[in-house]
Amino acid sequence: MKLSKKVIAAVMAAMMLFSLTACGGNSSTPASSTDDAAPAADTSNDEAAVVDEAADDAEQAAQEAADSAAAAVGEGGNIGVCIYKFDDAFMTTYRNALQEILEGKGYTVTFMDGKNDQAEQNNQINNFIAQGVDALIINPVMTSAADQIIATVKDAGVPTVLINREPTAEQMSAYDKLVYVGCDARQSGTMQGELILDTVNKGDINGDGKVSYIMIQGDPENIDAQYRTEFSVKALTDAGIEVEELDLQRGDWDRNKGQEIAQNDLAKFGDEIEVVFCNNDDMAIGALQAIQAAGRTVNEDIYLVGVDALDAALNEVANGNMTGTVLNDAKGQAEGAVAAMEELLGGKTYASGEQSIYVDYVKVTPDNVTDFQ
Ligand code: GAL
Repeated sequence: MKLSKKVIAAVMAAMMLFSLTACGGNSSTPASSTDDAAPAADTSNDEAAVVDEAADDAEQAAQEAADSAAAAVGEGGNIGVCIYKFDDAFMTTYRNALQEILEGKGYTVTFMDGKNDQAEQNNQINNFIAQGVDALIINPVMTSAADQIIATVKDAGVPTVLINREPTAEQMSAYDKLVYVGCDARQSGTMQGELILDTVNKGDINGDGKVSYIMIQGDPENIDAQYRTEFSVKALTDAGIEVEELDLQRGDWDRNKGQEIAQNDLAKFGDEIEVVFCNNDDMAIGALQAIQAAGRTVNEDIYLVGVDALDAALNEVANGNMTGTVLNDAKGQAEGAVAAMEELLGGKTYASGEQSIYVDYVKVTPDNVTDFQ
């Protein structure tokens, strides 16, 4: 279904008919309103009938346009969703949540796998536009591609919700039918630091007066990776704790890379490592494998924190094999994204500076983990 094209066609038809009616087919007729157009035009009865008919047609076309817009908001709208790559643990839970909500509301939804390739995703966006989707939900591959993505959807006039990778407010201000739904990654970083501050020795297991850590980072192009890296450590230093970074490596959100980095660092730094910060849970699960293989015990001689609250991580928090994690609320974000999309479909536009909608992160520890399982 190409509802947006139908809407445009119906609105254009209505506008043409209204203007025809207002002019009464006679350039000397005042165009003040359809009611006085006919008498003022001094036309014959036949001509007046034609004008009345045109007014009826215009009304009908306007009604059809409203009906089409309503249909796009409710049942049957066609939604294109672009995910940066399907092979990402957190984005898989997010994608499943989106699918359940959208299909539950009667939308027809198509998901595309960007395969971590921005050129591929650009093609997918263009194809969705050519197919006449009513709205797009896009998880960009590269945050740096935001300008181009925004220009493309603006050109096509397609209401768009960006998710997971936040552009700047300035970039978004280019298009008022665009909104970002996500989380403020600074919050998750701060919470990771707090999880360490909440331990009995505030992370200083060997009592040498400083917290020695390794940082396993997500894709560093991504603001989530940048902020979590910065704010987890900042929470410690803000609390007056001295820190020592033994290593910082990119693990690109990937479990295997998390495992490899932790394994190498454990071999290199051994007992010096007191804290393993991972920008997400999938890398933390990989790091846990390396920690256990090295004969270390989480919460006794090393601390380990992640972000996302993946099921696997929740189990490890419950078992005491992870110090804690931070809920990255996939369901809440999916609900927020669909709600924002429906507002856009209903005609809402967003003012510059008001285009980011945030969902809160939540700290997960052994004390509250059952609330999330
Ligand atoms: C983060 C999430 C990561 C990864 C990333 C992809 O918010 O914590 O696990 O999915 O998004 O951009």
